[in-house]
Amino acid sequence: MNILGIDIGGSALKGAPVDTKTGCLLAERYRLETPERLTPAQMARAIKNIAKQFDWTGPIGVGFPGVVMGSRIYTSSNLHRDFIGCDAVKLFSGTLGGPVALINDAAAAGLAEMRFGAGLGFDGKALLLTLGTGVGSALFYRGTLIPCELGHLPLKGDSAEKRVASSVKEKEDLSWEEWGKRLNKYIGILEAILWPELIIIGGGVSAKHKKFFPYIKCRAKLVPAEFFNEAGIVGAALHAVDS
Ligand code: BGC
Repeated sequence: MNILGIDIGGSALKGAPVDTKTGCLLAERYRLETPERLTPAQMARAIKNIAKQFDWTGPIGVGFPGVVMGSRIYTSSNLHRDFIGCDAVKLFSGTLGGPVALINDAAAAGLAEMRFGAGLGFDGKALLLTLGTGVGSALFYRGTLIPCELGHLPLKGDSAEKRVASSVKEKEDLSWEEWGKRLNKYIGILEAILWPELIIIGGGVSAKHKKFFPYIKCRAKLVPAEFFNEAGIVGAALHAVDS
């Protein structure tokens, strides 16, 4: 089945049609920069804009960087506050005039990695972390997705993502070693609680994993995500099929 996958991020929206049987994009992804924080209604129109680029009238899967339960969004740490409490499925499908499925962005990335990427064939307990504007997380146990918000674990009096997101590395101009060591501590805490057997690190920075993996001493097998910038798009499309 072909689905239009959309990944809503902190600074851009990305989308492409996805062949959900293979996890491949059917066209080059389209990126729409969002320098201003879009309101939910503006976001719905931006998604419509992406659908137009592909003349898309079929089903759409959307990944959002916040807690998603059912058709609603419950948190929005890095996007517009009006998303909190918003029935985004109702809003987006109303604007787009077709079915829309909604999922947390890291949960989407996890689905893509477990089905076609770094977690392919792995049947134990896997943890996926996405390091970007924020820190996203998803846990998989024997193939079952458990969405979670480990980026908001308290660390030094703040959300962990305020110390270990890759945006923080840039903002604070941290060296790979400084940032890698912070990440090591954070992953150590997660390991003590969750005992994953496999940890997949995603987000754009995963392409540079060789620079910071040496600082992470963990028990689990640590691997970079295999989808570079496309996991969220592919996973949002997979979720639309599953739901
Ligand atoms: C949000 C998560 C999201 C992550 C990555 C966090 O701030 O709370 O839901 O998955 O950022 O975008």
